[in-house]
Amino acid sequence: MSKVTVIGAGNVGATCANAMAHMQFVSEIVLLDIKEGVAEGKALDMMQTAKLYQFNTRITGVTDNYEATAGSDVVVITSGIPRKPGMTREELIGVNAGIVSSVVKNVLSFSPDAVIVIISNPMDTMTYLALKSSGLPKNRVIGMGGILDSSRFTCYLSKAINAPACDIEGMVIGGHGDTTMIPLIRLANYRGTPVCDILDKETADKVVADTMVGGATLTKLLGTSAWYAPGAAGAILVKSIIMDEKRMLPCCAYLEGEYGQKDICIGVPVVLGKNGIEKVVELELDRNEKALFEKSAEAVRKTNSVLHDMKLV
Ligand code: APR
Repeated sequence: MSKVTVIGAGNVGATCANAMAHMQFVSEIVLLDIKEGVAEGKALDMMQTAKLYQFNTRITGVTDNYEATAGSDVVVITSGIPRKPGMTREELIGVNAGIVSSVVKNVLSFSPDAVIVIISNPMDTMTYLALKSSGLPKNRVIGMGGILDSSRFTCYLSKAINAPACDIEGMVIGGHGDTTMIPLIRLANYRGTPVCDILDKETADKVVADTMVGGATLTKLLGTSAWYAPGAAGAILVKSIIMDEKRMLPCCAYLEGEYGQKDICIGVPVVLGKNGIEKVVELELDRNEKALFEKSAEAVRKTNSVLHDMKLV
């Protein structure tokens, strides 16, 4: 028996719950939202696809009732306001910080042993806030951004190479922001062949640039931030924890000296199992990548400083 709660039954939260049900690795999913009836309605709608998709997961929805979330193994937090066109993730901080810290407190009062997954933006800063405000051990607070950015990276690579995304490996580390993420093009490969041996420099640079504005491109098209890929990426992260898969996935993790950084939550490859983050993996970065990582950490720290100014951590 396993139980996952998703806070926020909006675009990302509901899509994540739906993806998890389809993946069939969790017995129970609770969706919680503050908007009266929305979580209940979406849960009921999803349950009415159980026969069609042949899944057994029980999905229920509640309005702000944390008692229903009791005993969750993993809690995914998507509550907050999404990024509007032209708005940076950083501008969201004021609103979403208040929401995330109160949600974490409520969640832990009913699920004291849960692993917390943060999707709300600005994600790196919200992860840091959740960790610091809860006092939880660092393995139990994880931000989801790198899995999504890496999936977007492989999507653009697959188009450029004209090969299926499932045959391409590509990882994005660093902050989950347009200017802070680092698509590791040097290490990306098509079944072992470096993509830099396949693509000309101009095309490879364009793939990196497109990946970095991947979220903003969708926000411009949709009028709000995306949900299919963010929801699916959240589901993949939760699956590795619930199934104790020990997958190595890029996630936002608290660093204590790894990659030369301390007291920051930022995207790095980690091993995910039943305890949450079981290991931070240190890749051999070249000089340029190290410099980009340092710059990225600096930008994340700058956003985090807003939390200090607001006396939230
Ligand atoms: N408790 C529970 N739910 C809340 C709270 C709260 N305190 N505050 C807001 N919500 C709910 C809203 O009612 C809404 O249904 O969170 C949901 C957010 O859903 P959307 O507005 O559809 O936003 P979404 O696109 O899902 O994005 C959520 O994920 O990717 C990030 O940038 C994105 O921070 C944003 C988050």
